[in-house]
Amino acid sequence: MAKHIFPEGFLWGTATSSHQIEGGFSEGGRGESIWDRLAATPGRIADGSDASVACDHYHRWREDVGLLKWLGVGAYRFSIAWPRIVPDGRTVNDEGLDFYDALVDALLEAGIRPFVTLYHWDLPQILQDRGGWGARETAEAFVEYTAAVTRRLGDRVPYWATHNEPWCIATLGHEDGEHAPGHRNPAEALRVAHHLLLSHGWAAAVVRENSPDAEVGIVLNLVPVWPASQEEADREAARRFDGFFNRWYLDPLFRGRYPEDAVADRVRRGHLEGSDLPFLERGDLEAIAAPLDFLGVNYYSRVVVKADEAGEPVGHPVAPEEELTDMRWEVFPQGLYDLLIRLKREYGPTRMYITENGAAYADGPDAEGRIADVRRIEYLRAHLTMAQRAIDDGVPLRGYFAWSLLDNFEWAHGYSKRFGLYWVDYETQQRIPKDSAFWYRDVVAANAVDTGLQMP
Ligand code: FCB
Repeated sequence: MAKHIFPEGFLWGTATSSHQIEGGFSEGGRGESIWDRLAATPGRIADGSDASVACDHYHRWREDVGLLKWLGVGAYRFSIAWPRIVPDGRTVNDEGLDFYDALVDALLEAGIRPFVTLYHWDLPQILQDRGGWGARETAEAFVEYTAAVTRRLGDRVPYWATHNEPWCIATLGHEDGEHAPGHRNPAEALRVAHHLLLSHGWAAAVVRENSPDAEVGIVLNLVPVWPASQEEADREAARRFDGFFNRWYLDPLFRGRYPEDAVADRVRRGHLEGSDLPFLERGDLEAIAAPLDFLGVNYYSRVVVKADEAGEPVGHPVAPEEELTDMRWEVFPQGLYDLLIRLKREYGPTRMYITENGAAYADGPDAEGRIADVRRIEYLRAHLTMAQRAIDDGVPLRGYFAWSLLDNFEWAHGYSKRFGLYWVDYETQQRIPKDSAFWYRDVVAANAVDTGLQMP
């Protein structure tokens, strides 16, 4: 079999997030988060569930570190629950810090480097009550929270990501209303995006102070956008989609400005007052554009768009049923290669990590208890092949994190979508390695992925 070999020192990992796996909601002095509140509202989570127990990682974290050790990964990406650290929005709760302190030590002892995300969507509800990310004060609060965490863990954590997927927080949370806090207000969404970016810049400076040897970056969800046809209207729709989805974040971070065409699009749609960005203050863009040590890229799929009557982009699914995952996302590995090449060419990040990549498939245990999740293996194999090709073509990609270690609470989908390398039996909390876990373990050990093709 042909093998794609990764560079020496390539960082292999898996990823999770606090809200999706921890549970233990009323323990350790944790406060309420905006996702607890959303899930308590009937009809907001597809299966009517919430994350109050989830994978019970709050109690089973030692066992989970054992799973990581078995996989042989060199790193583990997880997030810190802000409501555990600052439950009342003001006072630091040492018990919350203790939990992550012990986790970090256990990881290091197992030879696994902690890759910490500071914000993966679980805002303390009390801060939402004071305006949430729509308020500039929340950016200030994020800096204080970051200071508390990095003062405690900064001596041991080598990788820090400020935010996970600001587009999702801004658009899904404040424009589409699917995610917490469930607002439908496009003007607020733009303010939120700005405060997220700003708080990233401010917090990154604090991380550097308290964790001087660490790498600091941000994690974006990025998609290659394809026009449904070569017609002018569809190409224009693709440009618009790219503008508000990808460039709205990349341009401020790497170029210190919002993309002009995308701002004009927003003005035209009435999401901004006049031609201005009313939330922008002097010095903000400089703070946002402070150099990053890495860009984290979450990649799942591409998007194909066509123009509606108003010229606005609408999704135009093209893939046959068998090429869709349970999320109804198209399996499109080539998009990862294209995206990485584009990022290198247009933005030139020093380093990149694929901080999430994976697929939801429901495959569960057969009569013998084996989980033959062949489609997940094929998905991962195809994407890793593209990642390795991008490295060959000069992309500074330094690591890869499979989403996810465990099946978990998939936000508005509840437990109905399973992304894990490990199956979680939510009744017993048993973790069962899927075939993909065995496969990934071999990949990590070999530092290589085979193409799946028999070469003559
Ligand atoms: C990403 C999120 C992650 C997970 C995957 C499937 O958007 O960062 O928490 O839900 O999608």
